[in-house]
Amino acid sequence: MDDLESVVSAIMKSRHLVAFTGAGISAESGIPTYRGKDGLWNKYDPNLYANINYFNQEPSYYWNFFREVRYPLIKKVQPNQAHFALTEIEKEGNLKTVITQNIDGLHQEAGSSSVIELHGTTRVIYCLNCSQEYSLDEVFYILEKEIPPACPECKGRLRPAVVFFGEPLDPQILNSAFKEAETCDFLLAVGSSLVVHPAADIPRIAKQGGATLAIINKEGTPLDYMADYVINEKAGKVLPRMVQSLKENSSG
Ligand code: APR
Repeated sequence: MDDLESVVSAIMKSRHLVAFTGAGISAESGIPTYRGKDGLWNKYDPNLYANINYFNQEPSYYWNFFREVRYPLIKKVQPNQAHFALTEIEKEGNLKTVITQNIDGLHQEAGSSSVIELHGTTRVIYCLNCSQEYSLDEVFYILEKEIPPACPECKGRLRPAVVFFGEPLDPQILNSAFKEAETCDFLLAVGSSLVVHPAADIPRIAKQGGATLAIINKEGTPLDYMADYVINEKAGKVLPRMVQSLKENSSG
């Protein structure tokens, strides 16, 4: 495992740092990750709760999960110090964009100004018929009366603005993320198992484009072999210390 200082000195040399994050960066906000022993997918079968075909067949499955799991969680979580640390690194001038697989909106809540949400956001629900958008609270209110929820405007079907399994990612969003990966000179991957594609292609694309790659993750990942630096620690512990060291070095 590499030490923090070597990562910080490499970041100090970078001119276009991009962060690539997964569920692990939100774990210390209380949002369960998907995989691993306490992973969400151990409790809820993603083929039932997060698959577009099943959502189309049996939308009530998803909406009950939304009402009982997603909504209460998103309503109470806050960004943690790992999210705020990325905002600090952005202020220091190196970090240009956060590419995230997360749908929790916590990077924006923490103040990151450029966030690419590869898998969409759970914070927006829209009507498949008239495209009217609704907030989490509005839909939670509708769910009190009817499941699956119907659009108050046109009685059309509602869906979350997330990418379900079995759906393609938005090509424009994916291309902008690939472009960032190709042009960055440092990719900081934080809190992802790096097993879900095409998102997990981002670190490889950055590496192929000549960028330095650092992976901060509690456990090993299949891409550790290609990384210049690997730190197997909690993001909420490592990133604030990284910011501290960056500030000390830049004011030094
Ligand atoms: N700090 C750093 N890493 C952590 C922490 C933490 N506090 N807690 C957990 N981790 C690590 C875990 O070891 C794991 O490797 O975060 C990783 C989370 O991996 P996943 O649960 O697979 O989440 P992610 O990589 O974001 O999944 C990608 O899969 O189900 C889909 O769409 C979903 O966006 C998600 C995608």
